[in-house]
Order: sequence, then C-alpha cells, then structure tokens
Amino acid sequence: MNLEELKNLENQFDSEFAAVAQIKELEQLHIKYLGRNGLLTQILRALKNLPLEKRRQLGSQSNKLKELWQHKFQIKAEELKITQRTKKIFDITRPGKKVKLGHEHPLSLVLKQVIQIFSSLGFSIAEGPDIETEYYNFDALNLPPGHPARDMWSTIWLQTETKNQKPEVRNKLLRTHTSPVQIRYMETHRPPLRIISPGQVFRFESTDQTHNFQFWQLEGLMVDEDITLGHLRYILETFLSQFFGRKVKSRFEPSYFPFVEPGLQFSISCPFCSSKGCSSCQQLGWLEMGGAGMVHPQVFKNVGYDSSRWQGFAFGIGLDRLAMHKYHIPDIRLFYNGDLRFIRQF
Ligand code: FA5
Repeated sequence: MNLEELKNLENQFDSEFAAVAQIKELEQLHIKYLGRNGLLTQILRALKNLPLEKRRQLGSQSNKLKELWQHKFQIKAEELKITQRTKKIFDITRPGKKVKLGHEHPLSLVLKQVIQIFSSLGFSIAEGPDIETEYYNFDALNLPPGHPARDMWSTIWLQTETKNQKPEVRNKLLRTHTSPVQIRYMETHRPPLRIISPGQVFRFESTDQTHNFQFWQLEGLMVDEDITLGHLRYILETFLSQFFGRKVKSRFEPSYFPFVEPGLQFSISCPFCSSKGCSSCQQLGWLEMGGAGMVHPQVFKNVGYDSSRWQGFAFGIGLDRLAMHKYHIPDIRLFYNGDLRFIRQF
C-alpha cells in the first residue's frame, strides 16, 4: 500500500458515501471501510509490517482518514434519522385520510332557499332578538295587557329583577312569533319597505308530530302607498311556486290576528298532487301555510307611520312545516333530536 493507493481508496469511499440514502446503507458502508475487517482497518493493521519511514507517512494519512470518516458517519447518521422522521410525517405518496363531510340541516337548506327567493323579489333580511319585551311581542302589535287574543300564543315568560322600568320594557319573554321584528324594523326605517325575517320562536306547548315548543317562522312585511291583498297573493304564490318547483295557487280564509285587518289564514294547492288529494296533503288537496293580512292602522300608529298614506301586508309562515312538506318529513321533532342518521339523508 502506498499513498497513491490510499488516495484512490479515499476517492472510492467518497463516491460510495455520497450515494448513501438510508441508514442501512450507511451501516454497511461503515462495516466495509471501518469494520473489523474493513478496508481501512486492514491498512492500519498492516502498518506495523512496513519500514519506519513508510509507516510514518502512511500511518499519519490513514489515521487522519479514519478520524475524518468517523466524523462523516456520525453527521450523516443524524441527518438520515431526521429525514426519515420528517418523511414519516410528510410522505406525500401515502394515501390520505378520508375526511367525512358534514350534512346541512334540512332547516338550514330551507332557510337558504327562502332567503335566495325573497332576495330575488327585492326583499331585505331583518333580524330581531329571541328574548323580547312584552311591548314588542304584544303591546305594539295591538295586543295590550289583558287582551284576550294574547292567549293565542302560550308564552314563556322570563323572571327579571330590574326595577324602575316601565312594565312593558321590564317584562321579558321568549318571543312567541317573529311579528315583533315588524315593529322593530318600522321604528327605524321609513317606507316604502319590504323585508322578511326568519327566526326561532318559542311557545309553552306540548309537542306532537306537527307542533314543537321551539320552531322557526318566516315573517314578511311590505309597506308602500298602494299595497293591496293582490300584492300579498302574488308574492306568496311566486315564492311558494319557486320553493316547491311547481306552480301553486293560494287560498285565503278569514282569520283573526289583532295586528292585521283583515286577517287571513292561507293555504296553497298541494304541489305534490295538484289538489287531487294525496298523502302529503292528507287527501285535502290544500296545505296550510300560515297567517297573513293587511297591517292594522293601530300598528302603523304605534311606529309613527301615517296610516292614511301607507298600506302594507304582513304574513307569518311556519318554516318547519314548509320543510316537512318539501322533504316529506312526518314528525317535526326529527329536526331537533340531533339524530345523525336523519341529518345524513340531506
Ligand atoms: C303567528 O304566529 C302570527 N304571528 C302570524 C302572522 C304574521 C299573522 C303576520 C298575520 C300577519 P300562528 O300562531 O298561526 O301565527 O303561527 C304561524 C305559523 O307557525 C303556523 O301557521 C304554523 O305553520 C307555525 N306554527 C304555529 N305553532 C307551531 C308549533 N307549535 N310548532 C310548529 N309550527 C308552528
């Protein structure tokens, strides 16, 4: 062995070392050069048989090389460990984990569609609080304290501690309908106006297939100088035809709500059987939708509108019932019991 041969061995090592990509390969290379019978180990072992001068030269070079390679092995081993660990986390070739997508609640789907249709008809969206005062839920809607029609809405009253306030402000309740939003909106806006207000309402009622103590309503209000029941009919028929995707006709029957005059109950021709009678409409040919009417002059007075100049219509539709009809859902309570098997169908 001479210095030139040692140089050749070093070059050979360098090119093999550069090609190492895995710990196993590194270990094998270590055995090949520095192991018990490694190429460099053998040279070092044979030094003792060389003449002194040659032993000195080759000895110092070989020992330097040994030190250098040991250092290189150490660093490379660290590097490979880190790369392998990172690869485990970021291996882009590994198949991804399937992320389960959620489902939109049927009431959310209905809400979105309702907002989209009414927006296209020029209606804005108004909101009001779930906790209302007696004034907005009743008084301002022409239902002063003691009015017998208050019994139409079984009310959940809240206990409030505040003193020195007028009773109508002090008495709080969970709103029984979305009609208070009419008042709140008219108090802060001047006509002409057209709004819808979807929201949750609460009633002290026992539940059955079509009744819940908490449900959604959709309030509608349009005020201008020449509004008639004809406008109400047109808007409701246009909305409900688009909603069900089939042309429907509305039917009005007299009813009573103190905040409208005349008051009406309206139904639509069953969109599933064109009024012939089917299981969706319980063979009646008509689906009941909600209450409506022309805004009562007293309500206009309460918000400071001149009722000799402005007229308006208002309506209130049960959104849960609308969703039940659309998706043929037999029980309103399915919307609220959190059963994922139900939600996953949408
Ligand atoms: C009202 O709440 C009036 N504010 C509607 C109105 C607005 C009339 C504007 C005139 C002008 P009513 O109590 O009938 O009315 O409720 C309206 C609709 O809500 C009903 O037609 C029904 O679809 C729905 N609804 C009523 N009670 C329940 C209940 N317990 N569970 C589910 N939906 C209900």
